[in-house]
Amino acid sequence: MTRTRGIRSIAALTIALTVVAACSSGSSSSAPSAAAPTAAPSVAAPSAAAAAKTYKDLTVGFIQTGSEGGWRAANTASFKDEATKLGLTLKFYDAQNKFENQITAFRNFIADKDVDVIILAALEAAGWDQVLQEAKAAGKTVVIQDRRIDSDPSLYATYIGSDFVAEGRNSAIEMCKLLEGSTSKNVVELVGNVGSSPAIDRGKGFREKMADCGITVTKSQTANWSATEGKDVMAAFLKDSKDIQGVFGQNDEMGLGAALALKDAGLKPGTDVKIVTVDATKGAFEAMIAGEINVAVECNPLLAPQVYEAALKAVNGEDLPEWVPSIESIFRQETAADDLPSRQY
Ligand code: AHR
Repeated sequence: MTRTRGIRSIAALTIALTVVAACSSGSSSSAPSAAAPTAAPSVAAPSAAAAAKTYKDLTVGFIQTGSEGGWRAANTASFKDEATKLGLTLKFYDAQNKFENQITAFRNFIADKDVDVIILAALEAAGWDQVLQEAKAAGKTVVIQDRRIDSDPSLYATYIGSDFVAEGRNSAIEMCKLLEGSTSKNVVELVGNVGSSPAIDRGKGFREKMADCGITVTKSQTANWSATEGKDVMAAFLKDSKDIQGVFGQNDEMGLGAALALKDAGLKPGTDVKIVTVDATKGAFEAMIAGEINVAVECNPLLAPQVYEAALKAVNGEDLPEWVPSIESIFRQETAADDLPSRQY
């Protein structure tokens, strides 16, 4: 796959970058030197004489994918709110869903002497080796959150996020239950941004389980996690054929868009065509209560407490597991009204 990696201007990057919790970084010890990096597990622990850092000493450079929907908004809020609560300094960068912006931001955080830890939500799984090596050489700790990358785990401290393959498998299992007894089991898939780990892994997990009940994925196309694109792609699918019994929306937004397209085509979403989505945002609960989405498989965006804790441990030289998976549930139409009041996003 060819990828353009144009470098955007530093000025544009500076405008987009905001310091959220303007606590003093408070650390007399600046970023660790290349000779004595602190990222676990491949690096040495600080000497016994060095005082352990606290949250108030920590400056974090956070590279977000963008602001593509409810899930992402909740993920961003989690990091901003928790930073304020803990008193750490957060330099937040919104990459506006452009991979090249993420690479530029990564290098800017490496060059920023105040930044101890770089936290990344990667738009694409591939393409991180070079900047991770640069971060390691500069003694920066890197924590990957939300989206998995395909670099060697020795290049970052830990990955904290969902089991996207399991989310795909669970979506297929739920679709199987919904289509039980149906003579045709034609399902269309609305895919996230191609190359991202949730898009790849949810698709993989779905395919692993769909054969158990005879589902066929008749069409599969990216709608980039977006409701508008989800609606357009679904409308195009329906123009081709109305012989569709299910929609697998790899996120809520795309599933909600598909529901609108089904209504425009004179079909009842949730009844004539079953819809399973991933995320379980409040929007999906409202659609489940209205009968228009059948099942929402949870993907937890509230990762900041775990991620900041891991970052602090890594900076203080503790070894961390390669992956800390999030704990997630499955929500169905039947209980959505009871569940909604306790949803946090
Ligand atoms: O990486 C998680 C995915 O990113 C969510 O499922 C999607 O809504 C978001 O954009």
